[in-house]
Amino acid sequence: MAAHVIDTAFTIPYAYRTCFTDDLFGADAHLLADACRGHRRVLTLVEEAVLDARPELPDALAALAPEMPPSLGLRHLPGGEQLKSEDGLHRLCALLDEAAPCRQSAVVLIGGGAFLDAAGLAVALFHRGVDQIRVPTTALSQCDSGVGVKNAINAFGRKNLLGVFAPPHAVLNDAAMLATLPLRERRHAIAECAKVALLRDADLFAWLERHAEALADGDLPTLRHAVRRSAELHLLHIGTAGDPFEHRSARPLDFGHWAAHRLEALARGQARHGEAVALGLLIDTWYAEHAGILDEPLFDRLLRLLTACRIPMPIRHLDDIGPDGDLAVMAGLDEFREHLGGSLVLTFPTVPGQRRDCENPDRGLLKTAVRAVAERLQALHLPQTP
Ligand SMILES: NC(=O)c1ccc[n+]([C@@H]2O[C@H](COP(=O)([O-])OP(=O)(O)OC[C@H]3O[C@@H](n4cnc5c(N)ncnc54)[C@H](O)[C@@H]3O)[C@@H](O)[C@H]2O)c1
Ligand SMILES: [Zn+2]
Repeated sequence: MAAHVIDTAFTIPYAYRTCFTDDLFGADAHLLADACRGHRRVLTLVEEAVLDARPELPDALAALAPEMPPSLGLRHLPGGEQLKSEDGLHRLCALLDEAAPCRQSAVVLIGGGAFLDAAGLAVALFHRGVDQIRVPTTALSQCDSGVGVKNAINAFGRKNLLGVFAPPHAVLNDAAMLATLPLRERRHAIAECAKVALLRDADLFAWLERHAEALADGDLPTLRHAVRRSAELHLLHIGTAGDPFEHRSARPLDFGHWAAHRLEALARGQARHGEAVALGLLIDTWYAEHAGILDEPLFDRLLRLLTACRIPMPIRHLDDIGPDGDLAVMAGLDEFREHLGGSLVLTFPTVPGQRRDCENPDRGLLKTAVRAVAERLQALHLPQTP
């Protein structure tokens, strides 16, 4: 009998709003009420460190109750990279099971990038997906991870291996959250700002260079500007580059990340995401300069920016040797290829603000880049991650 075939096709429009404010739990609380409007109930999950830093949060949320749908309560749990684990995901799902939001409810997630990644995944899985309203509380999550469409946990020794694309219902970026953020957390976010500037906005890159000292000092108005412009660029990319769920082989926003993700794993939690990204950007920029991809020298400029921002980097792990006898960081390239689905495409800047996808970059030259960056940074005696 001849095979019977039915093709089914449909499209689902996605849209979400990202708001920038200085006072989400005061003068601009209506933004939260607006985002929650239309939902049957609202559950709020807060990262414990944020509650410690902002003990007035529960009262501020309680004061908002008349404007909000009925509450399923406020729950808290520790965040950080440990929550991005199978055990963390299980704890989050158990908490959702207990609070029991329905599919017409919303879950407000308040926390850093790791908390949002893990809790966002749990909420995306629960009932096959409940609306998530994100309140990112770190500079990195406000400028990059929290405004995007990806949720994931780490598994089997690999970063972000288990995850889904689940766009948020809304994102509320409150600059006041950054006031309690430790200096180290303020600094490493600048690596993601530099990444998106190199790919999309030469003016932002030059602005970061001019304000590197203030950024290194954690100056809040300066940080707020960098965070906001980077978030705008990330959103522009997601909304207009035509591949929000990354079906194509190039992953422009992952510039510098093949090395960064492996370095984070090699540093076993001692390097912050942006600290590993800083090193990854240097490796890929050195490569782009020596492979003739860059139209003008950029490595020294980037190095000056990152060192002026005093971002410590996991430099010693560039020398780690893997079980196959090769430089351990090189395994990141194979993982990245597998993640992309076969052929390896890396995105590099050609000049600040413009980019090019390169298929099958030269592995030997990338390894030379790792060695050259290691040598250069070690000679400079730069601050390293613990
Ligand atoms: N989903 C994505 O597209 C994407 C993109 C980039 C990075 N990421 C992920 O994001 C994670 C890193 O995020 P991060 O840099 O926000 O780290 P994080 O979530 O670990 O937070 C850093 C530290 O700051 C604390 N903290 C959070 N908010 C605070 C506040 N307002 N005041 C004081 N302390 C506060 C946290 O408890 C934690 O100790 C990594 O897991 C990375 O893989 C995801
Ligand atoms: Zn990143």
